[in-house]
Amino acid sequence: MEIPAQYRGREQALIKHQLLETYLYKLFMIVGQHHPTITYVDCFAGPWQEASEDMSDTSIGRSLSTMKNCLESLQGMGHNVRFRALFVEKNATAYHRLKEYLDSLDTPVETESFHGEFYNVRHKILDWCGPTGFTFFFVDPLGWKNIVEVSTLEPFLQRPESEFLINFMFEFILRAHDIPLHEKDMAAIFGQIPQTDGMTPDQKESCLVDLYRANLKRVQPSRGGKPRSVTVPIQRPDKDRTLYHLVYLTRHPLGIVKFMEASEHLEFVQKAVRIQAKHDKKIETTGQCELFGAFENIKVDQGTVPICVVKEYLLRQLSFQPQLFGIDKLADMLEETGWFESNFQEAFHELQNEGTVKNYDDAEKSKRRKKFIHFDANRNSGERLAKVTP
Ligand SMILES: C[S@@+](CC[C@H](N)C(=O)[O-])C[C@H]1O[C@@H](n2cnc3c(N)ncnc32)[C@H](O)[C@@H]1O
Repeated sequence: MEIPAQYRGREQALIKHQLLETYLYKLFMIVGQHHPTITYVDCFAGPWQEASEDMSDTSIGRSLSTMKNCLESLQGMGHNVRFRALFVEKNATAYHRLKEYLDSLDTPVETESFHGEFYNVRHKILDWCGPTGFTFFFVDPLGWKNIVEVSTLEPFLQRPESEFLINFMFEFILRAHDIPLHEKDMAAIFGQIPQTDGMTPDQKESCLVDLYRANLKRVQPSRGGKPRSVTVPIQRPDKDRTLYHLVYLTRHPLGIVKFMEASEHLEFVQKAVRIQAKHDKKIETTGQCELFGAFENIKVDQGTVPICVVKEYLLRQLSFQPQLFGIDKLADMLEETGWFESNFQEAFHELQNEGTVKNYDDAEKSKRRKKFIHFDANRNSGERLAKVTP
C-alpha cells in the first residue's frame, strides 16, 4: 500500500479518516433504513494540516462524500433520508476555508457551520440538532481542557439517539495523569484521580482508557439501551507507541459489532502504514531503498491475542445447557475483551473440531468457512451454543 501523498508525515490522520469513513458508511446504511433524518456533527472540524484543495484528506471532505454516497444508495433502496451536517471550528482562518468550501459545494447533504469555541457553542449545537433524532458526534480536538471532561460533554451524552467518536489524546494524558498540578483536570476526565503506580505501560494504557470509557457511560440516560463503548488505539507511525485512542460510544449492540468490523480492517492498514513510514524514514536517513512495499510484508494476525486465550474465554461464556449467542452477546464479548469477531469465530471453530463445543443450529457445519457462529441469525438473536463433554 502506498500512503497517499497528502497524508505523508501525518499517517495517523489517514488511519483516523479511514476508520471514520468505513464506520460512517456502515452506520448510515443501517440507520437510514429506519430513520427519516440523519444528523452528523464534527465538533472540531478544521480544516487542519490539509494538503489537498478539495478537502479529500480532511474529516470534512471524507464525511461529506460518505454521506452523499449513503444518501444515494439509500435512495436506490427506496429510502429518502435527509442528511444534515454541522461543522464547528474556532480558528478564524480555518473557519473561513471551511465556510468557503461548504458554500462552493454542490451536495444533497444540508450543511451548516459554526465559528466558535466548542465549549461556548455547545448549547447552540444541541439546539441545531434538536432534542431527538439520530445524531453522530465526532469529537476530534487537539487537547483536553473544556473538551473531553465528562462535565463538558454531559449535555451531549444525555441526549437520546446519539453516538460519539471521541479522540482521547492518550499521549498527552499519559504524561499528565500523575502530575499533581493536573489532579483537578484528571478528576474531571476520569471521575477520580487514576492510580497507576507500579503498572506496566500496557496496564497503564488499559487502566486510563477503561476508566474514561466507564466515566462516559456513567452519565448516559438510563432509558434507550445499555451504554456501550469500545476503543481503537492509533499508533505513532514511526514508533510502536499509542498516540491516541478513538473511543466509540453507543447504545446499540450492532453499533459495537459494526465498529469493531471497521477497526479490524484498520489493524491491517495501520500495520502497513507503520512499515511504510519506517521504511520512508530509513530511505531519508540512509538513502537506501528496500525492495518490498508495505503490504507485501504484512500478515494479518487477527490481533495479537493467542487463540488459546480466546478459547479459554469462550469456554467460560458457554455452559452445558444450549444458550443463544446473538448480537447482544457478541457486543458484550467485544466490549469486554477488545478482540475482533474473527478471533471468536476461529476459536469456536477449533473448539468444535476438538469436540468440546457444539452449535445446535449448524446442522451442516462442513459448509461454513469463516462464520461458525451466525450471531445475526434469527433477527440478531443468534444460534444455540453449548459446551459438550468430549
Ligand atoms: C485535530 S484538528 C481536526 C481535524 C479534523 N477533524 C480532521 O480529521 O481532518 C482540531 C481542529 O479543532 C480546532 N479547535 C481546537 N480547539 C477548538 C475548540 N475549543 N473549539 C472549536 N475548535 C477547536 C482546531 O483549530 C483544529 O482545526
